[in-house]
Amino acid sequence: MTHDRRKPSRQDSNFRISNRANRSMSSGGVIVDLHRNSTNWAKVVDDIVKLERKIFPKHESLARSFDEELGKKNTGLIYMDVDGEVVGYAMYSWPSSMYACVTKLAVKENCRRQGHGEALLKAAIQKCRTRNVHRISLHVDPLRSPAISLYKKFGFQVDNLIEGYYSSDRNAYRMYLDFDAD
Ligand SMILES: CC(C)(COP(=O)(O)OP(=O)(O)OC[C@H]1O[C@@H](n2cnc3c(N)ncnc32)[C@H](O)[C@@H]1OP(=O)(O)O)[C@@H](O)C(=O)NCCC(=O)NCCS
Repeated sequence: MTHDRRKPSRQDSNFRISNRANRSMSSGGVIVDLHRNSTNWAKVVDDIVKLERKIFPKHESLARSFDEELGKKNTGLIYMDVDGEVVGYAMYSWPSSMYACVTKLAVKENCRRQGHGEALLKAAIQKCRTRNVHRISLHVDPLRSPAISLYKKFGFQVDNLIEGYYSSDRNAYRMYLDFDAD
């Protein structure tokens, strides 16, 4: 199967996220919700753990605790499937009705700059919004400039710098996106 690799625009009909069957087309791939009862649960988690190990240094990685993280209450995971391959993923949680967090976002290195990160973030935000939260927050290493650009593109603002967040010498920006009360 061939894919249209051009970057999706917000006007593209296939860039809109629909909850139909928990799958949505975007950026030449399909965004899928991972559920415990998904038949491919073990394979997808395995693929994500492999990506997590490649992409993140130990202090930022959830590789060793991914299954545990996913088992936490009020946590969701979506992934981007391109021809049966997991090329990116986003994890989010809603600890209370007040706010939600994007706890992970990553795209496989050779699949970047094709709109997958943007599509995953957009879908994760939509998932959080269905919980009627007024704020989404996240932490990101200030050295991760592509991620920071992406978050700013969606309107996230830097709240503050948290020194020693990841490890003694790795800080994090806390960023947030607020929604107006309807
Ligand atoms: C951040 C990340 C998820 C972006 O994924 P991606 O699929 O390459 O992103 P997209 O192609 O959808 O790009 C969307 C936007 O992200 C930003 N961006 C992505 N790559 C960038 C780069 N190399 N330099 C600057 N901005 C970049 C831009 O704002 C871009 O919008 P634009 O194309 O209009 O300029 C990816 O780079 C990644 O996995 N990085 C490593 C993990 C990470 O840092 N995760 C976030 C912290 S938890």
